[in-house]
Amino acid sequence: MQKKETITSLQQARGQRKLVMITAYDALFASLFEESADMILVGDSLNMSFLGEPDTLSATLDQMIYHTRAVCSGAPKSFVICDMPFGSTNTLDEALRNSVKVFQQTRADAVKIEGGIERAELVRHLCDNAIAVMGHVGLLPQSVRSEGGYKVQGRDEASFAQVIEDAKAIEAAGAFALVVEGVTSDLGAAVTEAVDIPVIGIGAGNATDGQVLVWSDMLGFFEAFKPRFVKRYLNGAELVKEAAAQYAKEVRDGLFPNDEHTYGK
Ligand code: KIV
Repeated sequence: MQKKETITSLQQARGQRKLVMITAYDALFASLFEESADMILVGDSLNMSFLGEPDTLSATLDQMIYHTRAVCSGAPKSFVICDMPFGSTNTLDEALRNSVKVFQQTRADAVKIEGGIERAELVRHLCDNAIAVMGHVGLLPQSVRSEGGYKVQGRDEASFAQVIEDAKAIEAAGAFALVVEGVTSDLGAAVTEAVDIPVIGIGAGNATDGQVLVWSDMLGFFEAFKPRFVKRYLNGAELVKEAAAQYAKEVRDGLFPNDEHTYGK
């Protein structure tokens, strides 16, 4: 029987084995990922791929709690992380109140907070109050509107140095692990070198301690565009459309249900 990861086992993995994180938003897919993934992230990316919104900013805490409950039910042996949505952690009090709500209303093992050095005090406050925190530095999707787009970080000296400072500050504040997103591969490697906690990359090259992909990108369900860092391990959209078309045809042709799928008289 698979053993559930803990903060200790995840931290001990550094340098020993690569860590695998996949996002999930529901019990069914979480149960399918449980065997392969070390961690399941209930990312606020659900606002885009589940709710069809153009960015993550309108995700609410209640939505994150609802989906985290589903994921924890579907994957009870997985280490589950709930992304704290935009606007839910603006002050120390609000961040603690909302993180406690996540811990009390779901079985999540940790929360994830986007941001660098400016969030360090807040991360410290949560860690001091028994909330396990995963940091998230580099490209910050929750800053897409204030930044005017999704911009790969580390292409100039200032942003390279800033992301390293951010990573160190979040580690010093007590985060048990870090996501680094949308950075050059040199910066992904430098962040991993600069800290002692596990660094999980997305669009950050191959030198990090692990990788995370959004499930609908990884399985090819999201067709609108494919960022360079995404690898599709399945042509999900094509397969689902083919299957749905086949079902529709058989219903319209009167071929489904046949005797095999019909209760006896
Ligand atoms: O929301 C999300 O899915 C994420 C990952 C991209 C790391 O934050």
